[in-house]
Amino acid sequence: MKTILITGGAGFIGSHVVRRFVDRYPQYKIVNLDKLTYAGNLANLKDVVGKANYEFVKGDIVDSDFIFKLFEEKQFDGVIHLAAESHVDRSISNPMEFVYTNVIGTVNLLNAARHIWKDNMEDKRFYHISTDEVYGSLGNEGIFTEKTAYDPHSPYSASKAGSDHFVRAYNDTFGLPVVISNCSNNYGAYQFPEKLIPLFINNIKNKKPLPVYGEGINVRDWLWVEDHASAIDIIFHKGGNGETYNIGGFNEWRNIDLIRLMCRIMDKKLGRQPGESEKLITFVKDRAGHDLRYAIDATKLKNELEWEPSLQFEEGIDKTIDWYLANEEWMENVTSGDYQKYYDEMYGGR
Ligand code: NAD
Ligand code: DAU
Repeated sequence: MKTILITGGAGFIGSHVVRRFVDRYPQYKIVNLDKLTYAGNLANLKDVVGKANYEFVKGDIVDSDFIFKLFEEKQFDGVIHLAAESHVDRSISNPMEFVYTNVIGTVNLLNAARHIWKDNMEDKRFYHISTDEVYGSLGNEGIFTEKTAYDPHSPYSASKAGSDHFVRAYNDTFGLPVVISNCSNNYGAYQFPEKLIPLFINNIKNKKPLPVYGEGINVRDWLWVEDHASAIDIIFHKGGNGETYNIGGFNEWRNIDLIRLMCRIMDKKLGRQPGESEKLITFVKDRAGHDLRYAIDATKLKNELEWEPSLQFEEGIDKTIDWYLANEEWMENVTSGDYQKYYDEMYGGR
């Protein structure tokens, strides 16, 4: 039996990865390490808790003593590292949190992996989950490939770029077996409603303003979260040592077009007059350093590892809206902050 560490497993993407690995690989013991920040929510894993090959550990990747002890105790065979501060707007108001978790936290994990694997690196794997934002911003033309030079603009993307560089440096310098993937914007169930899609679904439902940054002309390349999880599964098992893979759905949308689409779908689902929800659109001050366009070329992943997204966007966004409408209690809970109070009581502020 192999023991696999998944960090950030109580977050949005991490919870889908944990569920997939627990269900598909009974021969793995999956240890989910998460600090349970505002973005970590054990309700995302209600159906996984109690399974024989799953264990949750609450802890902070910035705490190097704790991380070393955990690695010594569990003797992990592989690491899938998702834990991060992930929201660009928060990185503009508080950059240091991003340096601590995304850079120092990642280096702590690399050091611990290097320490326990030093005598035998064979069959071991440190998989670092990164983002397309490290490549910077595109104009109207072009696409990010694995060879695009890094050019991050936000404290979030700068911290992710820094962590990517450390992961590659540990491969080059210490021979640590690593693999990295850079994915485009994810959408789907269990995403914290500070991000565009769940925030706007919730606001449309509650007839609250929809704050569109700038003119709404920025372009994002959207991928269904479960397709990201399937790509992570394939790369973890079949990706080459030291390799980088871009993940994306070839699915670019201007923000304003995506928002109008969500308004139209929700007018129908909520029995509103056509055009009613669009009236909620409010143009607000632009995000500082707002990247104009992201677009991912995922050809390498398709050609070398035979991965392709399973879902068309029209189907995925419809499914996603249905999920948020059907899971009012989840939304209520995360927006009221009750779950955070519960963790403080349960874990005594640790
Ligand atoms: P998220 O914010 O939903 O979840 C992050 C998780 O990490 C939370 O459970 C949180 O509690 C945990 N965490 C934060 N700081 C920690 C610490 N110091 N120690 C331990 N746990 C900690 O993020 P997400 O959207 O699921 O993103 C997961 C990963 O995927 C991140 O590395 C992110 O950069 C990357 N990514 C995200 C997207 C996207 O569209 N959301 C796209 C590409 C890549
Ligand atoms: O590209 C991958 C990245 O996608 C991930 O690395 C990040 O973790 C993830 O948060 C996401 O970053 P974005 O900044 O693209 O996502 P966000 O949902 O914050 O914003 C999407 C677009 O919508 C962006 O152009 C900003 C705009 N926006 C966002 C919010 C929250 C608005 O216009 N209004 C809003 O209220």
